[in-house]
Amino acid sequence: MRVPYFDLKAQYADLREDVLLAVDRVCQGASFILGDEVSLFEREFAEYCNARYCVALNSGTSALHLALLSVGVGPDDEVITTANTFIATAEAVSYTGARPVFVDVDPATANIDPNLIEAAITSRTKAILPVHLYGRPADLDPLMEIAARNGVAVIEDACQAHGARYKSKRAGSLGRAAAFSFYPGKNLGAYGEGGALTTNDAQIAEFARAMRDHGQSQRYFHDFVGYNYRMDGFQGAVLRVKLKHLERWTARRRELAELYREVLAGAPVDLPQDDAASDCVYHLFVAYVEDRDRVREALQSRGVQTAIHYPRPVHLQKPYAVLGHRPGSLPHTERACKCCLSLPLFPEMTLDQVRYAGEALLEVVEETSAVALGN
Ligand SMILES: Cc1ncc(COP(=O)(O)O)c(C=O)c1O
Repeated sequence: MRVPYFDLKAQYADLREDVLLAVDRVCQGASFILGDEVSLFEREFAEYCNARYCVALNSGTSALHLALLSVGVGPDDEVITTANTFIATAEAVSYTGARPVFVDVDPATANIDPNLIEAAITSRTKAILPVHLYGRPADLDPLMEIAARNGVAVIEDACQAHGARYKSKRAGSLGRAAAFSFYPGKNLGAYGEGGALTTNDAQIAEFARAMRDHGQSQRYFHDFVGYNYRMDGFQGAVLRVKLKHLERWTARRRELAELYREVLAGAPVDLPQDDAASDCVYHLFVAYVEDRDRVREALQSRGVQTAIHYPRPVHLQKPYAVLGHRPGSLPHTERACKCCLSLPLFPEMTLDQVRYAGEALLEVVEETSAVALGN
């Protein structure tokens, strides 16, 4: 059997008719930039996230950038975040002229460890930027408490967490603002680049609306030096079609994650577990294994494609060498990057494919541990 890592073509086959109608609506209306479909998507996505406002943008990176600017992050400030993430989290901080301050993750969740935040706060700290990595909400209560006590803002990097819940509240409704990505492979993916900022704060929403469109609040009257971060009409239209399916897709992801856990029960592999406080949406299903690269090759030879998110933590990437981190400075983050292996998981996967991929992993790790024990 061949198990692809993911398959966007299968999803398109299911949605083709509705997508083509939606794209046609945009062409007929000639509203290629922002426009009605984007405005409607903003309303629908805000409602979905239980947030008052949604501002549609051209990427999750832009959403992070505007979210940070909207709470006043600027040159010489510090933003506390995690290095176990896609580099865009840190880049957005750098765009503002501020410095990312990386703290280690909790090895049980791969998310920022709230116990380490207090010690990282300085007089320059302006915001805390947790990432809901792989679709699992970061532990926000302690983080919000620290933020409130120190007068700093919490911005959620919810780029991988569409529909996730923390203590029954949706990702995107918890911090001062949140950033979502609609990169095609995301749980809610556009047919091109896309992103959104959500917030309950009217001023932040207004600021983001102006900043995405060259700082203008009225056509050709500019209040700030802004950006071109606008969402295009096709993406709004496609996202509206897809949003209707998101709950069903998420339920399927959760079902497949559960099946992986059943198949791999007792294996020497760390798997993401559901926890009572939050609903993970399993953007990725990441196992932690020893001798990861060998395991990955052995799976590939059995027809199972996997991926690595992420092979090198952000604090050890070249652009952040200036911060002076060395290997060993964030041990849990570094270990996660060394052992993480993203298994195939997408809503159109069959139960047989999950069983096959899980059983293949079981065989491979058993062989690997037999080799390590010299049997
Ligand atoms: C955690 C995280 N933050 C930020 C981003 C950036 O989103 P985009 O690619 O839409 O700019 C991504 C996207 O991959 C992400 O996974």
